[in-house]
Amino acid sequence: MNITALQGKLEKQTADLLIINLFEGVKTPGGATGAIDTSLGGLLTSLIKSEDFKGKLSQTLLIRIQGKHPAKKVLLVGLGKKSEFSSETIRRVAATALKTAKSLNCKSLISILHGAGEGDIDPEDSAYAITTGTLLADYSFTKYQKDKAKEEIGKSITSFAIVDHNKVKATAAARGIKRATNVTPGVILARDLVNEPGLEATPTRLVNEAREITKQNPGIKIKVFDEKALKKMGAGALLAVARGSDEPAYLIHLTYHPKIKPTSKIALVGKGLTFDTGGYSLKPSGFMHTMKIDMGGGATVLGVFKILSQLKPSAEVHGIIPTTENLISGKAIKPGDIVTAMNGKTIEILNTDAEGRLILADAFSYIRNQKWDAVIDFATLTGACVVALGEQIAGLFSNNSDLQNQIQQAADTEGESFWPLPLVKEYKQLIKSKIADIQNIGQNKWGGAITAALFLQEFVPEDTPWTHLDIAGPAFEEKGKIPYIPTGGTGFAIRTIARYLDQL
Ligand code: BES
Ligand code: ZN
Ligand code: ZN
Repeated sequence: MNITALQGKLEKQTADLLIINLFEGVKTPGGATGAIDTSLGGLLTSLIKSEDFKGKLSQTLLIRIQGKHPAKKVLLVGLGKKSEFSSETIRRVAATALKTAKSLNCKSLISILHGAGEGDIDPEDSAYAITTGTLLADYSFTKYQKDKAKEEIGKSITSFAIVDHNKVKATAAARGIKRATNVTPGVILARDLVNEPGLEATPTRLVNEAREITKQNPGIKIKVFDEKALKKMGAGALLAVARGSDEPAYLIHLTYHPKIKPTSKIALVGKGLTFDTGGYSLKPSGFMHTMKIDMGGGATVLGVFKILSQLKPSAEVHGIIPTTENLISGKAIKPGDIVTAMNGKTIEILNTDAEGRLILADAFSYIRNQKWDAVIDFATLTGACVVALGEQIAGLFSNNSDLQNQIQQAADTEGESFWPLPLVKEYKQLIKSKIADIQNIGQNKWGGAITAALFLQEFVPEDTPWTHLDIAGPAFEEKGKIPYIPTGGTGFAIRTIARYLDQL
């Protein structure tokens, strides 16, 4: 879909559908919606009254204007309460409008710059939210459904223009659109990879995907370590998890260098577990069938790397993805096994389903001898984090409040939710092993997200600002609760990290 910014009079624009808005409780529209109302001779005001349109969030009213405007139809969308309004509201409203437009078979759309008047949102931010909301709501994964794929193509939108009469606002809107079209391909790549079943999205596939990124972005370099190399490097924890699988395991290392002297050096580490059966600590089948999502963290890192050449951050960015499957076989690890990670620490594997922390232990060890301004990891790490925070919020653990605040701020701007959880020092004793340096699960069943984070901390390079993002909940959407997040992989955290990198 091609999205553009246009400076001009709304009353003059032709399209299949014109999208306008209304705050909750407003009886007489103002701003751009008001201008349309005036040009329609007060039709909106009277419809709002007679149709009982309250402007509740994402409430829609389709208005047939019978030749009174060059657009064929007008869609009025509710913005909800002004006191609760934000750019995230705009993203959701734009997504609702897009879905309604598609269901009406409209091909050309025009939208006003939601919230850039009375809503007090910066016009660039408004256009960014409209564009991300529209493009992400337009996403569908139809690779395995021919009929649905055809249907989707039939419904595709040919043009989408964001119109404002003010030149400064229209120019700002163009910048917002540009940023959004730079960022969304990363989110979409991550969604596609998570949506691929484990049969397809193997560790080798992730390697190929990473290589493809370097082909399309000459500024990005790659090193891939295969099992032979990993053995030499002493990656005993990653290789232990890989033992049960016939698919070869890898450690992927991507590097982006800015054209200028880098302002900082950042590592993004992603759990690339392409299918998690739990191993011999086997998951019950009701909890296993969604476990293709367990490479969601790796997909996040690949998603970010796909867009780095467009974002052009001034930081040097490294992407580290340990990737394997967690299966059972005659060679698989058994509860009670002891392995040695790349940094020399011995780990007692008491539960083979706590495998994410094992492969991440080697990923962190791999980068331990370099100096980092920040290390951020993304992992669908624990069910406990989903129990604590629900499906829509990721857990955030950090040893550095500046880094934590930077990520939180970026997340707030992007409408993604991370909630801080503590790295409780006292709980470290819960992962002390009787027979090895550390054990891979806590001694009791409580605080599982925290003990997992504490385990990771043991392998993170020393004196390094670090943030662990447990995305087990929000990496996958079961129901499609939010209009721009369809069922399946969500690409969660990519917008936040893109924003964070931008500000370095
Ligand atoms: N991949 C899972 C965590 C997970 C759960 C991701 C739900 C997405 C949704 C992880 O490897 C795991 O199985 N963790 C165990 C740890 C336990 C054995 C200490 C868990 O959370 O139950
Ligand atoms: Zn597991
Ligand atoms: Zn896992």
